[in-house]
Amino acid sequence: MTSLADVRLLPEHADHDLAIAEIAEEAFGPGRFARAAERVREMAPHDRSLSFVAELGGTIIASVRLTPIRVGEVDCLFLGPLAVRPAYKNKGVGKALMRLCAETARERGETTILLVGDPPYYAPLGYRPIPPGDVTLPGPVDQRRLLILDLIGSAGKSLSGAVTARPVATEARSSG
Ligand SMILES: CC(C)(COP(=O)(O)OP(=O)(O)OC[C@H]1O[C@@H](n2cnc3c(N)ncnc32)[C@H](O)[C@@H]1OP(=O)(O)O)[C@@H](O)C(=O)NCCC(=O)NCCS
Repeated sequence: MTSLADVRLLPEHADHDLAIAEIAEEAFGPGRFARAAERVREMAPHDRSLSFVAELGGTIIASVRLTPIRVGEVDCLFLGPLAVRPAYKNKGVGKALMRLCAETARERGETTILLVGDPPYYAPLGYRPIPPGDVTLPGPVDQRRLLILDLIGSAGKSLSGAVTARPVATEARSSG
């Protein structure tokens, strides 16, 4: 890879599923299935229109996913997994994917992204820790690694409570 300019960022498609699974296996190993973040992702399917892959010369080299959830009574997005193939790390691909998914979510009217991750990586992207105990996941998590990004104003301040599935929006039924 010569530069980030050679990499194409694309909306996720079902054709990418196998490559994304391989990237996650490579990055996190089988232990990933035991994590609280995985319990959250089991609650609902991720939103492909808010999830992106990085492609270089026809090969998928990185991926990020966003899953619609709720925290207490507030709609929110849960980010992850984010992973970049080892050979392509430290070239800006991870941050480019992070910025693209956040910008797309903002344009769609989403207000907050929640994730579990390393604060030193995510802080330059605007993520901040939340007060310990404010948000609970379906499993143990190091509260210092629970981070949020406000997409609009300080929307994240209203996040409090348990992470649950976001109710599926039902279309208004016409009468008559
Ligand atoms: C973490 C990861 C997604 C970063 O993607 P990337 O494309 O390599 O990173 P970028 O090029 O966007 O950013 C590189 C910068 O982030 C830093 N960085 C990378 N991983 C970091 C981490 N875990 N904690 C703190 N800083 C980190 C690098 O040192 C580098 O810093 P610099 O710009 O000052 O040199 C990638 O390393 C990866 O897939 N890791 C394994 C899976 C993983 O840990 N995913 C995140 C789960 S929280």
